[in-house]
Amino acid sequence: KKILFVASEAVPFIKTGGLADVVGSLPKCFDKEYFDVRVMIPKYLCMKESWRNDMEYVNHFYMDYMGQSRYVGILQYVYEGITFYFIDNEGYFNGPKPYGDWYCDLEKFCFFSRAALSALPVIGFQPDVVHCHDWQTALIPVLLKDRFHDGEFFRSMKSVITIHNLKFQGVWDVMTIKRLTGLPDYYFTPDKLEAYKDGNLLKGGIVYADAITTVSETYAEEIKMPFYGEGLDGLMRARANSLRGIVNGIDYDDFNPETDPYIVQKYNAKNFRKEKIKNKRALQEELGLPQDDRKFMVGIVSRLTDQKGLDLIQCVLDEMCQDDIQLVVLGTGEERYENMFRHYDWKYNDKVSANIFYSEPMSHKIYAACDAFLMPSLFEPCGLSQLMSLRYGTVPIVRETGGLKDTVEPYNEFESRGTGFSFQNYNAHEMLAVIRYAERIYYDKKREWNKIIDRAMAMDYSWNTSAVKYQELYDWLIGY
Ligand code: ADP
Ligand code: GLC
Repeated sequence: KKILFVASEAVPFIKTGGLADVVGSLPKCFDKEYFDVRVMIPKYLCMKESWRNDMEYVNHFYMDYMGQSRYVGILQYVYEGITFYFIDNEGYFNGPKPYGDWYCDLEKFCFFSRAALSALPVIGFQPDVVHCHDWQTALIPVLLKDRFHDGEFFRSMKSVITIHNLKFQGVWDVMTIKRLTGLPDYYFTPDKLEAYKDGNLLKGGIVYADAITTVSETYAEEIKMPFYGEGLDGLMRARANSLRGIVNGIDYDDFNPETDPYIVQKYNAKNFRKEKIKNKRALQEELGLPQDDRKFMVGIVSRLTDQKGLDLIQCVLDEMCQDDIQLVVLGTGEERYENMFRHYDWKYNDKVSANIFYSEPMSHKIYAACDAFLMPSLFEPCGLSQLMSLRYGTVPIVRETGGLKDTVEPYNEFESRGTGFSFQNYNAHEMLAVIRYAERIYYDKKREWNKIIDRAMAMDYSWNTSAVKYQELYDWLIGY
């Protein structure tokens, strides 16, 4: 059975968020005897030069798009046994970042979605299922239906769309979306690509895909309600029979405290009591924080956007800093949050360390060094950072939403259960109370704390279970 993942990013080639982790790590985890899974993403000029140089040219062709004949190059690279294809067009994929400008992004990914399908007969790969991800590739299920009558090649191809974040939908006025997609008027009615008088690419994907998944069971339920539905909750309810939540995993080889090349002291579930602390010392030294083994060190690794609950933190950071804690932040994003953390780094220099940049090595050091990891998201389709924290025995403190709710079991001191701490309402003082509860356990009941770590590190959030669920879904779609 042949499966093609089409997406806007994939590790190790290019990453702006968790989407890249998923698209890069899931394909490896399918049963290779039955599934030939390949991945297709754009070839961005901002990819590391070494990757770009090592890609192998496969073929090229010209495609009519928006009244012009456009170059479509196809390159490939086999990474850890998986074939990655790259769609090349210097006009579209030459920016300093993979995306960022709304209008340009729309044209870029409409072009990419068309080019991805047109490339398949050229490389001679005829997938049984095309698995699309988020709005950037949501045009593909629509195109597949549109091409149904164009001959054999595409006729039996099924499509899956995975929603990693319903907030981003690829929306512009109908005229523009019509021009960018090249679709006829027929598609622009409120039961298809039109939503609230605009053209909406993700909506098209959701309407036309044969199956819809999202990245946790709770988020699959949440998006059927107005608060999380981003205006599409009615559609999600209408398609509820084809919608399934499958929780993400993480790459257990890349994120492994026993072999992680980025951390000073490797450790595992047996020896963390003695060894993990060495990573804390090293990070305190690297970041210029007071060197003190006892200090309750809380980490944040995140895109700095409203989604991540940073306004809750803003609200109570002064109060938090009255406590005996250290807060280590790594992230980039909205300027107001970048400056907020810079400000608190200045104000509480011996307690807060703001690292406003992107760094894979630094993220691993934080997952390994901290005692707790804070993720109070407003909404969270799945969240991978809390899974990485669990893997590294760093106790997550989360809000009970989406994947956070599904993957972190709240500590229960009476039953000796739980892998982290959580709170329900989007309320800063509710968050603060739970952070302080965690602090008390950490300072006063160290043995209890270590047992939380034992349970956290015993969880299995590798792809094993979830990959099987995707396989079942493909089997069901293909019909055997
Ligand atoms: P989202 O996809 O919404 O950003 P996830 O928790 O699913 O959230 O995934 C975020 C991923 O990006 C994690 O792998 C996290 O470690 C990584 N990440 C976020 N910000 C940074 C940063 N500044 N430096 C390094 N890695 C980061
Ligand atoms: C999105 C979501 C995040 C999820 C990731 C991978 O970026 O915000 O919750 O983990 O996609 O599915």
